[in-house]
Amino acid sequence: MWCFNLIIVITTIVYTTSSPLYDETNLGAGCTITSYSEVNTVVNSCTNIIINGLAVPPGKTLELDLKSGTNLTFQGTTSFGSSTKWEGPLITITGNNIHVNGATGSKLDGQGTNYWDGKGDVNPGKPKFFRIKATGGSTFSNIHLLNCPKQCVSIQNSNQIILSKWTVDVSAGDKNNLGHNTDGFDISDSEAVTIKDSVIMNQDDCVAVNSGKHLHFSNLLCSGGHGLSLSVGMSKTDSSKNQLSDVTFTDCNVTNSRNGIHVKTHSDATQGSVNNITYKNIHLNGITNYGINVQQDYAGGSSNGTPTNNIPIKGLTMNNIIGTMTGPNSEAVFVLCGTSGCSGFDWSGVSITGANKASNCTNFKPPGINC
Ligand SMILES: *[C@@H]1O[C@H](CO)[C@@H](O)[C@H](O)[C@H]1NC(C)=O
Ligand SMILES: *[C@@H]1O[C@H](CO)[C@@H](O)[C@H](O)[C@H]1NC(C)=O
Ligand SMILES: *[C@@H]1O[C@H](CO)[C@@H](O)[C@H](O)[C@H]1NC(C)=O
Ligand SMILES: *[C@@H]1O[C@H](CO)[C@@H](O)[C@H](O)[C@H]1NC(C)=O
Repeated sequence: MWCFNLIIVITTIVYTTSSPLYDETNLGAGCTITSYSEVNTVVNSCTNIIINGLAVPPGKTLELDLKSGTNLTFQGTTSFGSSTKWEGPLITITGNNIHVNGATGSKLDGQGTNYWDGKGDVNPGKPKFFRIKATGGSTFSNIHLLNCPKQCVSIQNSNQIILSKWTVDVSAGDKNNLGHNTDGFDISDSEAVTIKDSVIMNQDDCVAVNSGKHLHFSNLLCSGGHGLSLSVGMSKTDSSKNQLSDVTFTDCNVTNSRNGIHVKTHSDATQGSVNNITYKNIHLNGITNYGINVQQDYAGGSSNGTPTNNIPIKGLTMNNIIGTMTGPNSEAVFVLCGTSGCSGFDWSGVSITGANKASNCTNFKPPGINC
């Protein structure tokens, strides 16, 4: 018996060390999903899952509620049928200590071209793409999303997760100005989330942070969209959903975008707070509207010119924000605070050139800014 066990152990070591692929394809054969009808059985019984070339039927969510500790790999193209108008999401991934990875060359294709009409959220019937609710050291790496119908990735109720090496490519939506509200990453009610080493090409916020704490973004390349944003005050009634603190953006590039950095609080929300936010080493290039825009007058999805103090911004650090702007509407810094809405701004090394309009600050002047 001892000897028999030893042989199994040795055999396993030989296989896993000399040929991990051989090992995985054989032992995991029953855990590979190639058709939608296999999803539930596999997800309920396996902890080492491959999704290979899956076509998700129109109007269905690929729901992956994974067992704790699961490894999931996407191979080939995962496509999402789009004959039906609906709200999605196209895929949800839930779990604790899960590890989701895209194999080289793999893609998830949201087929946004079938939905885009130049109206975004205003015209319903477009699905959100990718929802994550994960905890306990979960990782999501090397995921390539193509053509989000509208918002790309939303992270909610998550704790201790890391996303790295993503490509979110909605650049096709630039054509004829058809893609709208294609936010890259939206984060709410989450703690200890890191998103790093990723590329986002879209038509709305590259990152939009709504609520949570200890959220970190680094080495992002944002192109074509609306910049690195905070948007706080989504709830009109529950102030606990309007709390944001301890957020860092470091070593990011924002290029050919409407804004570089956009901090907005919602004047039509109940109370809330924004504390201890840092943007550091942010390179801007080809920004058309605002290099840095801080506004406390967001209501009903746009600014209304009447800033309020209901969600005070306490502690906003800008350090080494450099770059250039382009076009007739370009303004390096625009600040519109409530009468007592902004405090604790520590800004240094803000150097944004090429603006066509003078910077403009209302009710609060950040240190070192000529406005
Ligand atoms: C998941 O992958 C990691 C790293 O390759 C491995 O250590 C772990 O045992 C795998 N987990 C499962 C459930 O197969
Ligand atoms: C940002 O641009 C700089 C200068 O071009 C480059 O060195 C750096 O690698 C870029 N970083 C990212 C995340 O794209
Ligand atoms: C501010 O946030 C950073 C990043 O999460 C954190 O390291 C630091 O301790 C926070 N500062 C305070 C005063 O809480
Ligand atoms: C500055 O912005 C405020 C708020 O939008 C506006 O009322 C004011 O006219 C602007 N000042 C200039 C000189 O454009």
